[in-house]
Amino acid sequence: MCGIVGIIEKNSSVSPLIHEALKRLEYRGYDSAGIATIHQNSICIKKDKGKIDEIHQKLDLDSLPGRIGIGHTRWATHGLPSKINAHPHLDCTKKIAVVHNGIIENFLELREDLERRHRFESETDTEVIPHLIEEIILKTRCDLYTATRKALQKIRGTYAIVVIYVEEPNVLVCARNESPLVIGIGKNANYCASDITALLPFTKKIALLNDGEIAAINYDKIHVETINGEVVVKPEIYDISWSPEMAQKGGYPHFMLKEIHEQPHALTGTLLIRPEIIDQVARALNDSKKLYITAAGTSNHAGLAGKYMFSKLSALQSQAIISSEFQESTTNLIDQDTTILAISQSGETADTLNAVRFAKNNGAKIISVTNVMGSTISRLSDLTLYTQAGPEIGVAATKTFIVQLASLALISLQIAEIRGVLESREVDQLREGLMQTPKIVEKTLKKEESLVRDIAYEYAYKPNFLFLGRGISTTTAMEGSLKLKEIAYIHSEAYPAGESKHGPIALIEPGFPVVFITPPDETHEKIIGNIMEVKARGAKIISIAEQNDHDIKKLSDKIISIPPTPTPFSPITYIVPLQLLAYYIATKRGFDPDKPRNLAKSVTVL
Ligand code: M6R
Repeated sequence: MCGIVGIIEKNSSVSPLIHEALKRLEYRGYDSAGIATIHQNSICIKKDKGKIDEIHQKLDLDSLPGRIGIGHTRWATHGLPSKINAHPHLDCTKKIAVVHNGIIENFLELREDLERRHRFESETDTEVIPHLIEEIILKTRCDLYTATRKALQKIRGTYAIVVIYVEEPNVLVCARNESPLVIGIGKNANYCASDITALLPFTKKIALLNDGEIAAINYDKIHVETINGEVVVKPEIYDISWSPEMAQKGGYPHFMLKEIHEQPHALTGTLLIRPEIIDQVARALNDSKKLYITAAGTSNHAGLAGKYMFSKLSALQSQAIISSEFQESTTNLIDQDTTILAISQSGETADTLNAVRFAKNNGAKIISVTNVMGSTISRLSDLTLYTQAGPEIGVAATKTFIVQLASLALISLQIAEIRGVLESREVDQLREGLMQTPKIVEKTLKKEESLVRDIAYEYAYKPNFLFLGRGISTTTAMEGSLKLKEIAYIHSEAYPAGESKHGPIALIEPGFPVVFITPPDETHEKIIGNIMEVKARGAKIISIAEQNDHDIKKLSDKIISIPPTPTPFSPITYIVPLQLLAYYIATKRGFDPDKPRNLAKSVTVL
């Protein structure tokens, strides 16, 4: 993962700006960070292990002089988090500095050869890049741009890189292959970074770089070519509507809590997506002979819920396959009659992109749902639906999950209408119900947050949790369990409630917390039986149920109430207390939910 940034200014010093951009990229990795600038014919560099604030306190990152510079915040792949392994990395002459996000697959063989002539300092794969560039410049006397291009031609793997060179203090060279990188166009300044949010304080004009492209960036111009040097490219330029404030905490202690509270607004925006777009996507899915949904993590849970909605509302057959297993599960099955619905908030998840590329190479049509305009997934897709959550910074996905669900709900209703599965009256009623979900989420946040916090504090030190649901609520259970695991580091499992008697029930002993998701749908009666089964073995029952559900209330130790929600859309509203539960348990235990250990927001490695 890792976040990278490069800035070149005509007049002012860039280190405070790089520092600011890195803070915005910190969700991508936070085990070490560094900045390098060029000043008075040398590279000035500060880097260390730790989070950016800690490093800044120690080293004062803003004091680096120079009008051109690069920065990096790391999520370690090759080599432990340490000062030496922190980026930027330099060549032997200390004139070339590089930041990199991705993985150089052939680094061992490149390093073995380079080590005969170069002195390596770190254990990273990245360090081969400055040494390769150094060697090419030395041998051929070419400029940085040409040398970087030639170096990249020797490299296999994924990368977004930015390079600076003391002998050419007026140019940043950047390139990408399967790791994200965007260019920002400013006034007397230009920028590049791993994502748009990093550049929001400086510019809203964004040029997209494609895989296999390299750019030379001066403060007043940008030149883009393919890395193989065959084509000069005119990049597409977008005006971004996100504001810098959208990527700040706005008075909340954490991004995650802010983003949970932004859900009514995010839902409203998404439910207002132009009907023509929903119709286009719905028709494309309806026309497919074989439909696969693929995604990772939280997006996979949205995809699984989508499968239930397609079957229940639209009578449309689909299969949901987690992206990291997609290729193996569909060998010999993908062809021109296949449509892929790929879901990814970032649009940059390597597993999902890999699944998409595999399917595309086999002739499939690609439809994507993503929150990030111009993301790689959208560029690989035949059709993209953009959810309207605004930037999500907390590593735990919250608002992007419910907008994915809302989009899938809109699509499934549209398919139902196209196929005539439901009467128009029924579709209208369900749409009307769906339009109420922002209000329901708002009410739930207002009425239930303090109760959820109390429950969280009471159960914060339980070592295990079980989350159970039936039907579409299994996906809510899976998402609630993932939230708890990833930010509170508590072992938890999610299961279809009917399956618990086939194994997981053996875990239950007195006091074991089991969270049940019990909307009043066709599964309600059966789940009551499942509650009784674990209750009889001493489990503590925490239920998420519709308000005034007396049957569930009688059986529960704690009950969190949700206003009536049209049942196939229950994950949209029932997930909210589970997000809060994980948040308050994590904070009670003293963890930072925005930066959970070992994770990063955008997982760009396979
Ligand atoms: O950007 P994506 O939706 O493709 O990300 C997929 C997963 O990496 C992501 O949902 C991850 O599981 C989150 N940390 C969940 O909170």
